[in-house]
Amino acid sequence: MKASSDRNMTNRIPILVDTDPGVDDFFCIALACAFPELFDVKAICTIGGNNTTDVTTANALNILKLLEREDIPVARGADSYLTEEFSEPVEKFHGRNGLGNVEIPAADRTADPLPAYEKIYQVAKECNGELIVVTVGPETNLALAFEKHPDLSSLIKKIVVMGGTTDKGNVTEYAEANIWHDAPAAKIVFESGVPIDMIGLNVTRQAPLRQEIFDGIVEVREDVKEVMSGLINFRNEEAMHDSIAFASLLNDKIFTWLDAYTYVIADHSEHHGQTVIEEDKERLNSRVAIGIDTEAYYRVMKDMIRRYTK
Ligand code: RIB
Ligand code: CA
Repeated sequence: MKASSDRNMTNRIPILVDTDPGVDDFFCIALACAFPELFDVKAICTIGGNNTTDVTTANALNILKLLEREDIPVARGADSYLTEEFSEPVEKFHGRNGLGNVEIPAADRTADPLPAYEKIYQVAKECNGELIVVTVGPETNLALAFEKHPDLSSLIKKIVVMGGTTDKGNVTEYAEANIWHDAPAAKIVFESGVPIDMIGLNVTRQAPLRQEIFDGIVEVREDVKEVMSGLINFRNEEAMHDSIAFASLLNDKIFTWLDAYTYVIADHSEHHGQTVIEEDKERLNSRVAIGIDTEAYYRVMKDMIRRYTK
């Protein structure tokens, strides 16, 4: 891939990705890394969820080595949710190794000395209110950062959330995994006062990622294509939810948005982890994706794949 120094590097958007890689998280990270002329990726922060934080942190380091972006620091996240222990990783969805049992060469660098919640605060201060956080896992690190640094909400421009749903959940009838895993944390994030773009299952389910995404692309690196194709296979060509959320930063028009007041139920009732969307114009805190142009998303994904050239 062309070195970032070859491109015009002014006016880039500072971003931080909070993730639990994770099969679909891989494609979110690949999008974040593929456009260095657009995005100044300040850090990748890891959390448990799809696997333990040890595994997701190693996966993040290995993914950045594969994508030739070891310039990006990885900050290791919490080892439990805000108020509960991690639940057992479900190998069916992300495999034993958190990456669909697809092997990626091991990185030989280690994570940043700062824990994720401090890295979020450090980066947010450096970016003077311009930082966009993309969170595609349980929101524990962000919630910890808000709890420990009350001024953080004035330092983050926007939070893009892969999470929630306006219809059926994937853990319970009402709750999507990222929110359900740490609903108290998600509640803190949605009530932080930072504008939220919520991309939930109601739209992500409509955009499965299939092997045909590679059609017509001949110049992609074999090692990258092999990993991507292996991940798509492992998930039986289902949606790569996290990449769909990130794609909104490359093309806002992929989604039809509803301005809303969105809150999270965190009461251990049958609605625990539900994202409730109200069209209350008096207290808007979010844009919720209610429609998706899947062809526009696929164009973004093909543009990304073409960036990983030999
Ligand atoms: O519900 C989908 C979300 O849960 C995705 O972020 C996936 O990686 C899992 O974390
Ligand atoms: Ca994820």
